[in-house]
Amino acid sequence: MQERYEHFIGGAFAPPRAGRYLETRNPATGKRLAEIARGDEADVDAAVQAAGSALPGWRDRRPIERGRVLLEIARRIRERQQEIVALEVLEAGKPAWQAPFEVEVAAQYFELYGGLVNALGGETIDLGPGYHSYTRREPFGVVGVILPWNAPINQAARAAAPALAAGNVVVAKPSEFTSASLLELASMAIECGLPAGALNVVTGTGPEAGAALVAHGGVRKVAFTGSLRAGREIAHIAADRILPLTLELGGKSPNLVFADADLEQAVPGSLRAFVTNAGQICSAGTRLLLERGIHDRFVTALAEAMKGVRPGQMIGPMTTEAQYRKVQEYYAIAKAEGATTAAGGALPDDPALAGGWFVLPTIYTGVRNDMRIAREEIFGPVVSVMPFADEDEAIRTANDSPYGLAAGIWTRDLARAHRVAARLEAGQVYVNEWMAGGVETPFGGYKQSGIGREKGLEALHHYTQLKCVTIRI
Ligand code: NAI
Ligand code: MG
Repeated sequence: MQERYEHFIGGAFAPPRAGRYLETRNPATGKRLAEIARGDEADVDAAVQAAGSALPGWRDRRPIERGRVLLEIARRIRERQQEIVALEVLEAGKPAWQAPFEVEVAAQYFELYGGLVNALGGETIDLGPGYHSYTRREPFGVVGVILPWNAPINQAARAAAPALAAGNVVVAKPSEFTSASLLELASMAIECGLPAGALNVVTGTGPEAGAALVAHGGVRKVAFTGSLRAGREIAHIAADRILPLTLELGGKSPNLVFADADLEQAVPGSLRAFVTNAGQICSAGTRLLLERGIHDRFVTALAEAMKGVRPGQMIGPMTTEAQYRKVQEYYAIAKAEGATTAAGGALPDDPALAGGWFVLPTIYTGVRNDMRIAREEIFGPVVSVMPFADEDEAIRTANDSPYGLAAGIWTRDLARAHRVAARLEAGQVYVNEWMAGGVETPFGGYKQSGIGREKGLEALHHYTQLKCVTIRI
């Protein structure tokens, strides 16, 4: 970790024009880590200009040549895995066992889009004799990417790889809490043959650097991942500009376990659904809906299995101090709402964790779907358990949410799996494995969980705009 980080603009590190810096802290200790450039409108403007200059050269390269650069970036990410892992462990508080997987996924995004770009194309439309009509998928130009702190390198690659593959150039604003790994990625990418200016990073806060990026007239599309609140603020700015947006917001995803499920799989699978990354995942399975006949047994087994999820080992701390406070507020809200704490619901008392932003994984039972702990995203390792009588009630409860990001089904009945999957209001449905899928599977939200899709071929299309050309012949 360096002492100080600058922006990365036009292929080189650049100090903030106003000379201001922000301090970052290590979530595992609460101690000062580094300082990062605190960007503003002037820095964003410099980055958008640099991107605009790089656009023609990058956009007009043959797709197979752009793809080759992305494949080289994938190779380089894997080669430098340990360095990126070290940054993610320090800044995001990722457990050392987990961080390599996230860096590997980042490499896979570059690999996927480095290949897929060669299959990107339009179609011809038959208007009968006398016309030739066809579509072209063209890049937008300068794409703004605003990122959260829960999976920094993974989410940066998830947006930058398809955007670049499609021939766009990028100005990315990482979370002010986790900027180092993306700065590292951007400088590596230049070494891999990406033209200077094609991928720029402006660090700083949301209201300063983030809002300036969305408002900048040179930016033609914005992809945002983060809170509903910030998503809404961005959408307000974008509304004035009629700016296309991809919004990947939060969730309160229901996980439905039917009595016929293989409980040997469903118990650990439902546990992973809400404790992975200490629950700091938008697609976490945080409403656990259990068929009445297995409710008590399931909760007992889940609480038993959860004893193995030790903060500081299996799961890291909350990545931000605000998030650490937020989880504790929900512990209090759960109590006030009359939920039963089946396990957790407090801070760990291990002295080795003192100073860090660690929380205990928590199971609440006796939850009603109208309680705040069933409606609001907590973003910590906290699950709200509710029983259901039959399939209809399970689906009704699952869909009774402002969110619609993911949903899970555990059953041995294949017909039921398909039937229920079709009726759930969610962008992703996982059957018999939470988070089943990969970089290839499209990902995004129904309802207030967002607009548009990341990942897979779908995302490549989302970073293009369609032109239709029709010729009278
Ligand atoms: P946030 O939404 O404020 O931050 C995400 C990114 O948006 C950061 O880069 C931030 O600088 C930027 N941002 C914030 N306000 C902005 C604005 N007005 N204009 C432009 N950019 C802006 O997330 P925060 O406050 O750190 O976390 C709060 C809650 O958000 C979490 O507890 C969780 O519920 C949710 N969240 C969801 C994520 C997801 O993956 N969908 C990721 C992170 C947080
Ligand atoms: Mg915020």
